[in-house]
Amino acid sequence: MADWRERPDCRGAQYSDRAGRPQVTQSIDSALCRLDQLPDGGAFAAEADLGEGPESLVLLRRGDAVRAFLNVCPHAGRRLDWAPGRFLIDAGLLVCAAHGASFTVPDGRCVGGPCRGSTLSEVPVAVVDDTVVLARSPQ
Ligand code: FES
Repeated sequence: MADWRERPDCRGAQYSDRAGRPQVTQSIDSALCRLDQLPDGGAFAAEADLGEGPESLVLLRRGDAVRAFLNVCPHAGRRLDWAPGRFLIDAGLLVCAAHGASFTVPDGRCVGGPCRGSTLSEVPVAVVDDTVVLARSPQ
């Protein structure tokens, strides 16, 4: 694999958190996708190692806001996608493929179905130079 600095879609960068505190430089391991791969109002699949091996994530975007969640429904723990990486968006909501729970985009709040009132498990991300990266705390 090429060094991450040679890949225009996966470059390291520094960023500040919401409070303006500088955060660590990101590496290729934390780059999830380019922002332009995420459709506005839609969902995008990514994989990330969160410390215990690869995890499937769903990235949700509304305008400039991007949030990421584990690809696990709070109702019965099933995957949200109907096929690997394929998510159903209906009337602006992410719909779980198993039993139809619906979640707001991009904040992952369940507003319909068997787990109404719950939320998806969030994974902190940031947008750095048009790349969505994991937002890890400094070590
Ligand atoms: S597992 Fe998602 S609605 Fe049941």
